[in-house]
Amino acid sequence: MFLRTLVRVGVTLIASLSVLRAVSVVKGDLDTTEAGHVEIQSKVHNATGIRYVKNSGICETTPNVTQFSGYIDVGTNMSMWFWFFESRNSPETAPFTLWLNGGPGCSSMIGLFQENGPCLVNADRNSTTLNPYRYARIIAPIGTGFSYGTDAVNSTEAAAPFVWTAFQVLFESQLFSKYASREFIFGTESYGGHYGPSFVTYFEEQNALIASGEIDAVPVVVSALMINNGWYDPLIQNIAYLNFATYAPGYGQLQPDDVLKNISDALYGPDGCVVQENACYAAGTSAHSNKICRDADNYCIDNVFVPAVGDYDSYDIRQNSSALFPPEYYVHYLRKKDVMKKIGAQVKYKECPDAPYEEFVKTGDDARTWLPQLSALANSGMKILIWAGDADMNCNWLGGHASVLAMDWYGNETLHNTPFTNMTINGTPVAAVQNVDNFSFARVYGAGHEVAAFQPQAALEIFSQVVHKEQLHSV
Ligand SMILES: *[C@@H]1O[C@H](CO)[C@@H](O)[C@H](O)[C@H]1NC(C)=O
Ligand SMILES: *[C@@H]1O[C@H](CO)[C@@H](O)[C@H](O)[C@H]1NC(C)=O
Ligand SMILES: *[C@@H]1O[C@H](CO)[C@@H](O)[C@H](O)[C@H]1NC(C)=O
Ligand SMILES: *[C@@H]1O[C@H](CO)[C@@H](O)[C@H](O)[C@H]1NC(C)=O
Ligand SMILES: *[C@@H]1O[C@H](CO)[C@@H](O)[C@H](O)[C@H]1NC(C)=O
Ligand SMILES: *[C@@H]1O[C@H](CO)[C@@H](O)[C@H](O)[C@H]1NC(C)=O
Ligand SMILES: *[C@@H]1O[C@H](CO)[C@@H](O)[C@H](O)[C@H]1NC(C)=O
Ligand SMILES: *[C@@H]1O[C@H](CO)[C@@H](O)[C@H](O)[C@H]1NC(C)=O
Ligand SMILES: *[C@@H]1O[C@H](CO)[C@@H](O)[C@H](O)[C@H]1NC(C)=O
Ligand SMILES: *[C@@H]1O[C@H](CO)[C@@H](O)[C@H](O)[C@H]1NC(C)=O
Repeated sequence: MFLRTLVRVGVTLIASLSVLRAVSVVKGDLDTTEAGHVEIQSKVHNATGIRYVKNSGICETTPNVTQFSGYIDVGTNMSMWFWFFESRNSPETAPFTLWLNGGPGCSSMIGLFQENGPCLVNADRNSTTLNPYRYARIIAPIGTGFSYGTDAVNSTEAAAPFVWTAFQVLFESQLFSKYASREFIFGTESYGGHYGPSFVTYFEEQNALIASGEIDAVPVVVSALMINNGWYDPLIQNIAYLNFATYAPGYGQLQPDDVLKNISDALYGPDGCVVQENACYAAGTSAHSNKICRDADNYCIDNVFVPAVGDYDSYDIRQNSSALFPPEYYVHYLRKKDVMKKIGAQVKYKECPDAPYEEFVKTGDDARTWLPQLSALANSGMKILIWAGDADMNCNWLGGHASVLAMDWYGNETLHNTPFTNMTINGTPVAAVQNVDNFSFARVYGAGHEVAAFQPQAALEIFSQVVHKEQLHSV
């Protein structure tokens, strides 16, 4: 269990993802009745509402830039933490960006404080510095870190309605209703390779029900989907662990031949990882699929992932497992009583608590593929960016690229025939990119799993081009 957690969820740091699930945590003794704390009950959805603090003064300290932090109650005893920041420029028209980290079960505060949020926490763990590379847009990271309550979610699929409900509740309120008509950018990473395709597909299904009059709700129209270092298709990506360990472009061979031989046997042998993953896919969503997928996941992690990674930091092969960047100062900062009080947090912050992850383990969610849903979204012409830092092994770019090459969509042949070109900033190559209509793939040079932490300027430029509906290009 510890190993698995370490693996894709990033107990130590980094990584991964997740979203919005309520986590069972004991409520602290923080006072929630003070002035400035506002509660709005939904009139439409039972047992839902928003509780927030406006302009806490924490993190976004730019004068006159509005922020809200608090909880969206998505059901009885299910409180999902969110933090909303207005754009520093043109807040009246800026697109709305949702940011979800992975896991499953990791807090999106990882992205806020280590990647693309308004501030970074200093080494004193007690103060912050503005992040000049903040995505210059409205951003609403939502996540497990301060969330609490009953945990009813044990799969990617089961999480989608709660995320959708969160936006229904937000957009119902006068405070946030104006954002319902803004462009909606869905940004995620890592396990977001599951969340992104799943949630956006669910939103579109709900939009169709709204359009046909079957339900009365607010459409959530996603205008762009961005996933970096995603976990899309475990069959393809397990094979990519062997390929990456054999030759990681730019970094060379990572493991000795005898280890590679063992990994290859574990992948392709009888009852190996490939056979078991295929069995998981074939089992579909039947009740007995849970065990098949769970077993496949355990086998592949123990016999493919773990030996392929060896002593490297799986989120950045340039570091060994004892020297980790980005730093975790922000975790200490978020556990300070005065900070918690100011932002309205009611439980102790946990980056990647075990409980939500364990729920996903039960259904073997990790071993399942969301590539068909991603393909369908690409086929619909949606603006999509699949990108990856090239020093991440966990969700490495070889696996991400092999996944998108396997997508069944109208652009398949063209993507196969499109060579990589370098995207440069002031003449310096920052990424190798491919564009086909509204679809782009990017391998970002010199970046680990959390791309924006390592290459903030490149990440911001790439993000901006996607938001402006441009193909990736040099500037
Ligand atoms: C809300 O609860 C009431 C009473 O229990 C029930 O009649 C109604 O169908 C519920 N509405 C929704 C949207 O669940
Ligand atoms: C902030 O808003 C106040 C009130 O509208 C205004 O007086 C002040 O000049 C603004 N400050 C900045 C830095 O924009
Ligand atoms: C909600 O949580 C409280 C405190 O943990 C508990 O007493 C109550 O029974 C819960 N209600 C439901 C409907 O789960
Ligand atoms: C932490 O910061 C606060 C104000 O931001 C300051 O009052 C306090 O002295 C600092 N604590 C330490 C240990 O530096
Ligand atoms: C390869 O697998 C065999 C059989 O499980 C084991 O004895 C051997 O130590 C492994 N070699 C390496 C280098 O891991
Ligand atoms: C790991 O990295 C640290 C910091 O760079 C270094 O001091 C240490 O020797 C490295 N350990 C190994 C086993 O490579
Ligand atoms: C997952 O959750 C659903 C809905 O609560 C439940 O019906 C199902 O039994 C759960 N599956 C497992 C394996 O726990
Ligand atoms: C690309 O997206 C735009 C909307 O941003 C849309 O109008 C256009 O049809 C899409 N292109 C394709 C080829 O689907
Ligand atoms: C995509 O194109 C490649 C190369 O032309 C081909 O081998 C593959 O079968 C195609 N895949 C799909 C899903 O159409
Ligand atoms: C692209 O940039 C990389 C990294 O700087 C470099 O190694 C490679 O030669 C460049 N490729 C082309 C075609 O310029």
